Amino acid sequence: MTKMDDIISLSKRKGFVFQSSEIYTGLNGCWDYGPLGVELLKNVKDSWWRSMTYRENVVGLDASILMHPKVWEASGHTAQFSDPMIDNKFSKKRFRADVLLEEHAHKLRKKGKGQKANELEEKLASIKENSDYYDLIMEYGIKDEGSDDWTDVKNFNLMFKTFVGSVEEASNTVYLRPETAQGIFVNFKNVMESARQKIPFGIAQIGKAFRNEINTRNFLFRTREFEQMEMQYFVKPGTEMEAFDYWLEQRLDWYKSLGMKESKLRIKTHDKLAHYANRAVDIEYEFPFGWGEIEGIHSRTDFDLSRHQEFSGKKLEYVDTVNKERYVPFVIETSAGASRGFMAFLVDAYDEETITNEKGKSDLRKVLRFSPKLSPVKVAVFPLVNKDGMPRIAKEIYQDIQQHFACEYDHAGAIGRRYRRQDEIGTPFCITVDGESVENKTVTIRARDSMEQVRIPISEIKSYLIERL
Ligand code: GAP
Repeated sequence: MTKMDDIISLSKRKGFVFQSSEIYTGLNGCWDYGPLGVELLKNVKDSWWRSMTYRENVVGLDASILMHPKVWEASGHTAQFSDPMIDNKFSKKRFRADVLLEEHAHKLRKKGKGQKANELEEKLASIKENSDYYDLIMEYGIKDEGSDDWTDVKNFNLMFKTFVGSVEEASNTVYLRPETAQGIFVNFKNVMESARQKIPFGIAQIGKAFRNEINTRNFLFRTREFEQMEMQYFVKPGTEMEAFDYWLEQRLDWYKSLGMKESKLRIKTHDKLAHYANRAVDIEYEFPFGWGEIEGIHSRTDFDLSRHQEFSGKKLEYVDTVNKERYVPFVIETSAGASRGFMAFLVDAYDEETITNEKGKSDLRKVLRFSPKLSPVKVAVFPLVNKDGMPRIAKEIYQDIQQHFACEYDHAGAIGRRYRRQDEIGTPFCITVDGESVENKTVTIRARDSMEQVRIPISEIKSYLIERL
């Protein structure tokens, strides 16, 4: 079973992800993407963008992070975007009350007390007010550092506040957006008119979102700064279920098309719906710490556009000139976390296997089996030894293919070690220039997963790679 710690350590060692501000002991819930991480994240986002917007009726948008504060009043975030928070007076630690109880159920299940865990989860699902969380925490004897001296449960708004202009007063308060979706809703009319779109059509956006999470945890899973890839699809009321089914299938297919294991994906239907939704599911991935949501598909009715219409006083209707009708469109939302997706692809790709090395000894091979579409480096080029004309030929090949693919040149250490270094970062192909290359202008190409090598003419390298990448 893959351990999260192995993945976090490989991420740091190889330059995928670093703790933010690490030299100052780090900033909780914030992460930096290193040279390989930034490529992987970009590949995830580019793939999403291509799959969502390279179609007839979905167009893109890049709205600003800071928006008019009324946006968040209309969306309900100012009043309701909060989590139930509880403090332990003894340990002085703060927790999300619902997560504390969910984790307790998880612990009970692990101890073989499945029925008790189910009971607790049922009670959690029917919670109505904050005091119910407190009562459950006491009923199940939940403690932190041996103490059950808990405060009352309070609501904690997750939006980060800041100020526009030089005066820090309430009238200048703005928020870092907690989701990209609202940028799409407030631009609904601008986009529809400028891009000459007709219902049904969608608007897609990738961008940063910020939430002052009470407990950040599990590496990139719950962070305070993250990226979302969201699409709002506007439809005629009454046709939303058909659109929902279509987009759910499209989104699942996207994960699978990038090689994610089907056995690690599942759909969780929401039994308890938000007041504005008439259907919602989560796409979940099985991480080493359990199943977790990587994307939500929501049927949001006309809630968002109607609220913005009400709060802005501007009409946000669609006028159907053919059928002579006007209405506020319903919305199907696909909302994926780019950073959570990044982590799911990383976890899914991670593999360890015992192989026999060149010296006939058994060796542990760590390999990231990324889909070539996601691999941060597509090809590595090596001279077998640093003499006899091999480095010159290898450099020429590297300089040529570098113009087409993310590529690395490595001449340091034994060839087996160099292969292993590329396996660890998920490079699908390694090209080696050897003695034969000098004589007959051929090279070997080694495939990461099978470790098999083929010999091909240098003149065919590019077409060989294009076909496979
Ligand atoms: N517009 C709807 C929306 O924002 P959400 O379920 O709150 O819905 C959508 O978030 C996705 O954003 C989640 O499925 C997850 O992938 C990602 N996400 C949400 N909060 C996150 C956090 N604190 N850290 C990382 N990703 C997060």
